[in-house]
Parts: sequence; structure tokens; C-alpha cells
Amino acid sequence: MPLESASLQRIKPSPTIAISAKARALSREGRDIIGLAAGEPDFDTPDNVKEAAIKAIRDGKTKYTDPDGTPELKEAICAKFARENGLTYKPSQIHVAPGGKPVIYNAFLATLSPGDEVVIPAPYWVSYPDMALLAGGQPVFVETTLEQGFKVTPRALEAAITPRTKWLVLNSPSNPTGSAYTADELKALGEVLKRHPQVMVLADDIYEHLVYGGFRFSTIAQVVPELYDRTLTMNGVSKAYAMTGWRIGYAGGPEALIKLMGKAISQTTSNPCSISQAASIEALNGTQAYLPERAKVFEARRDLVVSMLNQAAGLECPTPEGAFYVYPSCRKLIGKKTPAGKVIDSDETFAVELLEAEGVAVVHGAAFGLSPFFRISYATATEVLEDACTRIQRFCASLA
Ligand SMILES: Cc1ncc(COP(=O)(O)O)c(C=O)c1O
Repeated sequence: MPLESASLQRIKPSPTIAISAKARALSREGRDIIGLAAGEPDFDTPDNVKEAAIKAIRDGKTKYTDPDGTPELKEAICAKFARENGLTYKPSQIHVAPGGKPVIYNAFLATLSPGDEVVIPAPYWVSYPDMALLAGGQPVFVETTLEQGFKVTPRALEAAITPRTKWLVLNSPSNPTGSAYTADELKALGEVLKRHPQVMVLADDIYEHLVYGGFRFSTIAQVVPELYDRTLTMNGVSKAYAMTGWRIGYAGGPEALIKLMGKAISQTTSNPCSISQAASIEALNGTQAYLPERAKVFEARRDLVVSMLNQAAGLECPTPEGAFYVYPSCRKLIGKKTPAGKVIDSDETFAVELLEAEGVAVVHGAAFGLSPFFRISYATATEVLEDACTRIQRFCASLA
């Protein structure tokens, strides 16, 4: 009898974590490594949020809470959805979990039976397919193209839906491409979804506050009210408030679904950290003034990285609307050789050889389900990004 369960055998470890680990190992060996693989803001958690956590400890808020979030945090989340998204939820429609990732997993665990399909546009965040598989569902991928801004078209969505489709995952702005859907694009997808009442929508809005160049963020339950009753609008404090380590994610959705997700969490992780919940109330209710300031910094970095990558021989880098990722194509470099004679036969070889030759860690597109591309996270200091892009330019120029 194998030690590993059948359900765990269906999944693979997160490839982005593996690449970051490899880069850290090379770093420990004394190599000069620039890691552009990790998906977390380099800013610190704001002081008012830290103070709220310290106060929570002093006030003794150190005990179990309701499994899916405190009433106070749920109120703050309802206020956030009303204020920023024009969405009305009651506290009984809110689920809080230890991070955005468990929110999604709880939704899948609560709803997927063997054979149920989850439509996932590719490239996708690495965890969606594996979480669907772990929960017993079947991922169905819809490939997008650079030319369409990596966005799923209504026609492609229609073709992917079957009577077994339970969920559509919509992540905007996207990890790994940074592309974001306009309100009109969401409405066009909504027209398709209206014809298929069995499909629920998981709107992963975790990068909501990171949009640039005047782009207006929209979420599908807001712009297609007919879908409100079958949309789970998911978000979290990790990316917007630089709180990745605090582990708080949340979602608003139909009461019946939220109840099932509460049942799932009550017998697994139970409540998210009480102190992190108190800190998240302050993040949501306190000043939001630093959000546009931080977004400006990210926007300048995006522009720098896009411009420098487009000057690298053989790379093609679209300008994304949001998040802190770019997803350049390396298709013109496939088939070329490194000075040592190694053939670049895939985006994975490109990433490995780049790490070996220039010490820059990026994640190959195959990890996100669309090749030949790679992902760069630009959530790092401007000088470091300049250095990294100069190295990438040098590496690309060395291929023949
Ligand atoms: C698209 C997307 N959704 C959700 C998450 C989960 O965030 P967390 O679990 O850190 O709150 C991430 C984190 O990388 C992400 O990129």
C-alpha cells in the first residue's frame, strides 16, 4: 500500500515555490542570484495594521473565533465590498479563511464531486488545477493568446462549457500575465454564462488594487448582476496590504455556498488566526491612502521592465493592466543555442539556462499552462529590476 494517498497523487508541488527554493540554494552556494519568481509585494505591512495586531494581543484576542471569521471582520468585509465594488453582502454571505488559497480550496472542497469540471483559462495561477484535482474535480483548460491579451473570449468559453461544468475561474488582474478584464469584456462573458445556469463563477480579485494607467477594476458580480447568486467574489489582504504572511483571505457569495464552505473549514483548519483577523479589520477599515501610492511605484516598475524586455533580442513583452507580473514570449528564441551549445528547446530550458548563466530566477510558462513564455514578478526594488533586465538582455543576445 503506497504511503501517498490517491488524492495527493493527483497533484504536484507548486512549481513557483520550487524555483524560488532552487534560487535560494544557489544563493547559499555564494552565487549572485536575483529572484524574480516569488509572488509577494516587497513593501512592508503598514504600521497601523501592525499596531492593531499588537493591540489585539494585548487585549487578549488570542482565543478561537468562529471558524469562518469574526463578526467584526465580516462587517468590515461587507463594508469593503459595498464601498469598492458596489456589492451588497450580509455577514452570513462572507467566508474568511487562512489566506486566499484556502478560500478557493474550501469552495472546491464544498462543491466538487468526481467528474465535475472547473474551467480554467490558461495561463493560470498554478494552484487552481491542483486544488480542483485535490477536491475531486476535473480542470478543463481554455488557452488564451498573447494577441488577445491572455483573456478568454466568449466563443472559447462557450466551447469549454459542458453539462458537467461547475465552476469558471476568472482571475483579474491575472497571475501570471497581469492582464485584467474590462467591464465590457466581463459583460460579454456574462452573456455566455447566462445561458448555462449550472456554472458558478469564482472571481479571484486578489490583485484588485494593483491596476495601472487609469484602468478601472471591475468584478463580474458587479457588472453582471444576474450572476450575483452564483458568483463567489474572492479577495484577501495578502497582495493589497502586503500581508502575505498574515494569512487572511475572504469571499462573498450566496448563503448556501458560504454555509457549505463553513462546514468544510470547521472540520479542517478551523478559524484563521485571531490576531491576523484583528489586523485585517484595520487594513480594510483604516486609511487606504497608501494603496494608490504603492500602485504608482509598481506601475513605474512595470513600465521599466516592459521596456527593457522589449529591447532584449527575441523577447516580446505585452504591457499588462495590473498585478506585479509580466509574461513575455520567448518563442523567437526556441531552437537557438547558448554559447556552450545547449539548445533552447522549451521555456523551461530558457529559464534554467538563464538561471545558470546570469543568475536570474524566472518561472517558465509551462508551469502556468501556456508556452513558450516566462513570468517575471516585478515586486522588487527598481535597481534590482534594472540589473535583472540587463542580465536577461545579455543572455538573450548570447543565444545564436
Ligand atoms: C491569483 C492568486 N489568487 C490567490 C492567491 C492566494 O493568496 P494568499 O493565499 O496568499 O492570500 C494568490 C497568491 O499568490 C494568487 O496569485
